Amino acid sequence: MQIDRYSAPARAIHWTMAALILLMIPAGLVMVQPGLDRGLQNALFVFHKNTGVLLLLLVTLRLFVRFRYASPALPATLPAAQARAAGASHLALYVLMIVVPLAGYIRVRAGGFPIESLDAMGLPGFVPRSDALAETAKAVHYFSSLTLAAILCLHIAAACFHGIVKRDGIFSRIWPPVGGGLR
Ligand code: HEM
Repeated sequence: MQIDRYSAPARAIHWTMAALILLMIPAGLVMVQPGLDRGLQNALFVFHKNTGVLLLLLVTLRLFVRFRYASPALPATLPAAQARAAGASHLALYVLMIVVPLAGYIRVRAGGFPIESLDAMGLPGFVPRSDALAETAKAVHYFSSLTLAAILCLHIAAACFHGIVKRDGIFSRIWPPVGGGLR
């Protein structure tokens, strides 16, 4: 059967992750600024680490939903180069949505720092304490999060172009976040 939009779970997870990632990037950039108020810095670190772990869970769920429910086909009128660009950027976003939080997690655990929500549940860290590993993961987290931010800018620009300028139905494949027919 031909479908015209993503499943309800896929749309709900997409917009939840979008909102959280758009908060995580500025929080990450601000919390490492020298001279920041100590209380604000601590609050941002606690928010960033724990929301980041939640994002790691959400991307796992998202991959499951992606394979469980069919995705709508792109309109046949879309030029092949644009369809290829969309496919490549979506693949890059999936890879980065895994690499960025995973590197952040390894950086924190290898550095011997707490992740309050997981620690409160008594979960093990799974990552050995190692300064060298923490430094490598820190560099991976830094570069991959900036790459994610850059690709997100392109993704948002493309979404606005299709939703506001072209109005070709591509934006309404992923909208609304909830409702619009449960499938
Ligand atoms: C999609 C999820 C995430 C995004 C978009 C993100 C983004 C960022 C950004 C933009 C920075 C500032 C760049 C830098 O100085 O490294 C940063 C820093 C940081 N992030 Fe994340 N992050 C995510 C997940 C996580 C997770 C899951 C953790 C740990 C549990 C984490 C821990 C950290 C730490 C500790 C820093 C400070 C870097 C340092 O000095 O070590 N992040 N993050």
